[in-house]
Amino acid sequence: MRAHPAGPLHGAFAPPPSAGMPPADLGALDPQVWPRSARRVDGELHLGGRAVTDLARAHGTPLFVLDEDDFRGRAADFATAFDGADVHYASKAFLCGQVARWIADDGLHLDACSGNELAVALAAGFPAERIALHGNNKSLVELQLAVDAGIGHVVLDSFDEIDRLVPMAAARVAAGGAPVPVLVRTTVGIEAHTHEFIATAHEDQKFGFSLATGDALTAAVRVIREPALHLSGLHSHIGSQIFDTAGFEAAAHRVVGLMGQVHQATGEVLEELNLGGGFGIAYLSDDDPVTPGDVARRLRAVIAMECAALDLPVPRLAVEPGRAIAGPGTVTLYEIGTIKPVRLGSGGQGAPQVRNYVSVDGGMSDNIRTALYDASYTCVLANRTSDAPPALCRVVGKHCESGDVLVRDLWLPSDVQPGDLLAVAATGAYCWSMASNYNYLLKPPVVAVREGAATEIVRRQTLSDVFALDAVLAGRPAPSPAVDQPAPEHPVGARS
Ligand SMILES: Cc1ncc(COP(=O)(O)O)c(C=O)c1O
Repeated sequence: MRAHPAGPLHGAFAPPPSAGMPPADLGALDPQVWPRSARRVDGELHLGGRAVTDLARAHGTPLFVLDEDDFRGRAADFATAFDGADVHYASKAFLCGQVARWIADDGLHLDACSGNELAVALAAGFPAERIALHGNNKSLVELQLAVDAGIGHVVLDSFDEIDRLVPMAAARVAAGGAPVPVLVRTTVGIEAHTHEFIATAHEDQKFGFSLATGDALTAAVRVIREPALHLSGLHSHIGSQIFDTAGFEAAAHRVVGLMGQVHQATGEVLEELNLGGGFGIAYLSDDDPVTPGDVARRLRAVIAMECAALDLPVPRLAVEPGRAIAGPGTVTLYEIGTIKPVRLGSGGQGAPQVRNYVSVDGGMSDNIRTALYDASYTCVLANRTSDAPPALCRVVGKHCESGDVLVRDLWLPSDVQPGDLLAVAATGAYCWSMASNYNYLLKPPVVAVREGAATEIVRRQTLSDVFALDAVLAGRPAPSPAVDQPAPEHPVGARS
C-alpha cells in the first residue's frame, strides 16, 4: 500500500520529500515544460501576451489558460512530421467547440471516444469523414450516429460490436450508401508507459481483439467477408506518456505481421495502419520526450522494413496524439487560500524540516491526475517573483479528501501567501476533460490566449447549471456568483 498522501500526520514516519534540491531560480520557466508563449514580465507570468493577474481578475480562478499558438503549433508539428499520414487528434485529452474548429481548420483528423465526443465535434462543424469513433462498449445509439453522419472510421473493439454494427451498415448499403469503413483494434501484447515497455503480458484488459489468441485475425477475416463493412486497416494503441519509440516499433512489427496473416488468409491488402497515441510530454524538467519528427522517422523505417519482409505494400500510417498536442500549452491558475506548515522531523543535518501545505481554490475536481495516477506536476508563483529562500511545499486542493493533492513535492519561495497566484504547468490534457463536480465545486472556464487577446472558449460552470440537474433544486435561485467562483466579466467567446 502507498504511504498516505496526506503525509506524516497520517502515518508513523515522515516520507522523504521527492522534490530533490531546490532549483537555483524558483521562478524559472523551463521552455520544455511551460507553454511556448510563457514569459516573466516585471516578474509576473504572462501567457499569450497576457498578464496572469489580468486573466484571473477577468475570469476568476481556478482558470485554465490555453496558449492557442502552442496548441496549434504542436498539432502542426505532428502534421509536418507525419506528412502523408493521417494525424488524428485524440479529443479525449481536451475537446470543446473551438478546439474542434482549430483541428478541422488545421487539416488534422479527430478521434472521438464516445457518442457525445462525436456529437461535440459534429456540432462544431468538424468534417465527418475525418472522424474516427473509438470505444470498447459503443451503444446502438452511438453506432447509429456514426453511421448516419458518415464518419471516416468506426474502430471495432469486440465481436459484439460487429454484430451491432452489421445490420445498421446493411441498412445503409440497402439505401444506396457505401459500406461502413472500419478498423480492427488489435491488442498486440505490448504495454508501454514512459520509459519502459513490456512485450509479453497485458492481454488482460478490456480493449481490442487479442493478437495472441487469434481473435484479431478472426475479426479481420469476418469483417472482410461482410459486404456492408469495409476493412480499411488495423489499429493498435499501447499506452500513454511514452518516452521512447521502442514500444511503438515493437507494436508496428506485430501489427504488420497481422496484416501479412490477413493477406494470406483472404488475399486482401489492408490500406491503413493506425498506431494510436501515447507520445509523452515533459511535466517536469527531467522528462525527456521524443519529438514528433523522431517518432515519425522511426515508425516509417520499421513499417517499411516489415512490409518489405512480407512483400506487402506500405500502408498509410495514422497516429492519434492527444496529450502531446493539448498538454503542454495549458496552465491552470489558482489562488492560494491557506498555508499550513507541518513539521516533518529532523532534516539531514539536524535542521528541522517543514512542509507547507499550500491550499488553492480548486483541486482534484479540476485535476484528478495526481490523485488518480500519482502524476507529477510543477508549478510556480505566478503573480510575482521572490528572492525569499525556498520552502518545501505540497500544493493541495480544497476538497474534503486528504488525497486531494495537485503537486506532491516542490520548492516555492517561503514568502508565498494567501492571495498569491500559482500556475501549474502542462494541464491541457486529461484535466478539464476529467473534471468533476466533487463537493459541488464548479468546472473552471478555459481561456485561450494569443497575441495579447484572451477568449473564453468554455465558460465557468455556474451553480445554476448544476441546480438545473437536480429534481428538487431545478429552477430555484442559486447564489450567483457561486461561493468562491467569481462570475466571468465577459460572456463566452468575448475577448478581454
Ligand atoms: C485509442 C487511443 N488513442 C489515442 C489516445 C491518446 O493518448 P495520448 O493522449 O497519450 O496521446 C488514447 C489514450 O488513452 C487512446 O486510448
